[in-house]
Amino acid sequence: MPFRRFFDRGTKRETPTVDEETVADTTELSDEALEPEEADPGTLDEDEEGAPEDQAEIDWRDRANAVLPTGASTGSKRAEALYGDANAAGPTHYYSASGCRVVDAAGESYIDCTMALGAVALGYAEPHVQEWVLNALSAGNVSGLSNVHEVELAERLCAHIPCAEMVQFLKAGAEGMSAAVRIARTYTGRDLVVGSGYFGWHDWSSEAAGVPAAVRALFHVVPFDDVSALEHAAREAGDRLAAIVIEPVIERLPSEAWILAAREVTRSLGAVLIFDEMKTGFRLRPGGYHELSGVMPDLAVFGKALANGFPLAAVVGHRDVMQAARRTWISSTLAGESVALAAANAVLDIHESRDVCTTLATTGQAMRAGVAAAIKASGITGVRVDGLDPMWLLRFEDPHRETRFLELAVTHGILFKRGAYNFAATAHDDEAVTAIEEGASAAFVELLEEERGQA
Ligand SMILES: Cc1ncc(COP(=O)(O)O)c(C=O)c1O
Repeated sequence: MPFRRFFDRGTKRETPTVDEETVADTTELSDEALEPEEADPGTLDEDEEGAPEDQAEIDWRDRANAVLPTGASTGSKRAEALYGDANAAGPTHYYSASGCRVVDAAGESYIDCTMALGAVALGYAEPHVQEWVLNALSAGNVSGLSNVHEVELAERLCAHIPCAEMVQFLKAGAEGMSAAVRIARTYTGRDLVVGSGYFGWHDWSSEAAGVPAAVRALFHVVPFDDVSALEHAAREAGDRLAAIVIEPVIERLPSEAWILAAREVTRSLGAVLIFDEMKTGFRLRPGGYHELSGVMPDLAVFGKALANGFPLAAVVGHRDVMQAARRTWISSTLAGESVALAAANAVLDIHESRDVCTTLATTGQAMRAGVAAAIKASGITGVRVDGLDPMWLLRFEDPHRETRFLELAVTHGILFKRGAYNFAATAHDDEAVTAIEEGASAAFVELLEEERGQA
């Protein structure tokens, strides 16, 4: 049976109004928090426990396209990004998520390997996080004063993250990166930035339509792990270089030579070295790549797994550089909103109580090994598993085959990420890991059978 049903325990939904939906979600999440073991969408009879019929018939994709200019406010959640084809068969919207499982608008349950683009490493609706979140919510998540969680979390981050002596909170990763670059420019009094990686959608690093040419001219892109390109760009910028900004892991760890070159050239030119630890933080190590490598940046930016899916970014770094934030203007009305801060405090509790990063590596290793075994057993060629254990990916040579594989995997209850990382979570238990291998295996075999049938 490919799908498992979730609508048990009286949580079956009727088509909700917006208000009803909000209430229903909150109730269901707190249920999951109290009874995590029941969050497993077990073994219900499909006939007995289907999705509400009217709900299943609603085409959320069409409705989304009618009111959202890009179909989804997060780029990677657009249908064409999820599947490589806007018309591909597969879920685009969900109603509830718990552990490593997601229930779509039609009531079907899937094991999620994407984990909200790496924003969730402990599992959806994680009980301890939920508890902190609900407490923060009931205590009033904003006011005209700063919440005590802000100070407490900043202190704890300084204890957990090697390069952190001070912290500036924001909500999105892109905001955090923009703030880090603003701080570096203020600190150095310079304007040019050299960078390698993806830093979000903001103007300073983007080549998208709508970015003024004058802004683009201040940012020089260099390829990942290319020592001479990095040194050349930095020396060319010379005494105008404010910062080198690096996403330190892109599908593999960088060479030590590249990272040390970045450290050395920024020091010699009096520029700031910034690491974007959005995906690596609280995943490879709590302090991300710089904790793993021992190479200290001046500033580092965290987000995603930091608050296990709640919106929070943290710019951290050396005191003297961070204090430049006082000489510029970085502020956002909801930067100190307490629910996300509380979620991050809960995440730190969990990292303090067990070795989350080792679990992510072991679990990711088992996930990718299962998928690699499925590839081998099916005899399919033109696809391989790449990346690091806690963040691994499927590489298809042919994008059309990838789309079809993803569609087939969905029919076996597994959501894989197209062309980017699948993220291990501590919530991927043995049952999930086995189901991922079985789902991948069935999808590869069916893909080959279809191709043979067409030949
Ligand atoms: C390395 C990196 N930096 C920055 C960002 C931007 O973060 P956000 O989408 O939260 O603004 C992302 C998002 O995927 C990222 O992967």
